[in-house]
Amino acid sequence: MNKKIKKILLKKNKSKIVSLTAYSKSIAKILDNHVDIVLVGDSMANVLYGHKNTHKITLENIIQHTLSVKMGIKKSLLVVDMPKGSYSNFKEALKNAKNVIKKTGCDAIKLENYQSNYKIIEALVKKKIPVMGHIGFTPQFKNKFNVEGRTKVEVNRLLNEAKSIEKAGAFSIILECLSPKSAKLITSKLNIPTIGIGSSSHCDGQILVTDDMLGISGFYPKFVKKFVKLDRIIEKAIKKYSRDVKLRKFPTIKNFLNGRKYRK
Ligand code: KIV
Repeated sequence: MNKKIKKILLKKNKSKIVSLTAYSKSIAKILDNHVDIVLVGDSMANVLYGHKNTHKITLENIIQHTLSVKMGIKKSLLVVDMPKGSYSNFKEALKNAKNVIKKTGCDAIKLENYQSNYKIIEALVKKKIPVMGHIGFTPQFKNKFNVEGRTKVEVNRLLNEAKSIEKAGAFSIILECLSPKSAKLITSKLNIPTIGIGSSSHCDGQILVTDDMLGISGFYPKFVKKFVKLDRIIEKAIKKYSRDVKLRKFPTIKNFLNGRKYRK
């Protein structure tokens, strides 16, 4: 088994798993020292490309961004989201997953759960492809944000879904927008780690979209904590640059390239 995955599994019931998304080398490099898992999420559709949902992200988009992220990563587990339509049947799923892994060198892929696609997970795992599951609000298949697991029936449905994914061989599972009650129950019943987003502190780990927690995405539902208002900091710097250029304060002689020296 991949050593990084083993490390994640060992954290269950011991220490929290820290995860964030990245779409580029520069962000991945900063995350790498502080998180266990970096996810190249199809949330890039909303965050980077301004789409209303994640549906139009292609395998090529995902591969391109993963190649960039991979350059910034040494320690953390690199998980890649398979885009909508890329795992509709086993043959497609296997071909596309192999392609992503071969081209990017990522450690694992993530599939959103839809009806009985845990059978696809099972088949991929049999072919030695590490898979992370994803239940609850799965944006590839659901349009509206809805907290799931508020009734007994729903809690049982989610628990069965999670158990099927574990049985299929997934090494971990994302719980997105689940009620605290259901997240707690699922986390206690599974042997694999649960990673929550909008699903309370009962999960074995947490994930957020990095641009949301940095305050630069413009998307801040209640479950997102802005750890910094980076938009304001960036704006301040841009304003200063603009003013300096106009006032001829930049570049100064310190920034002139004399001779052949390019770097400081
Ligand atoms: O695409 C993504 O960023 C995700 C996380 C929100 C879990 O799937």
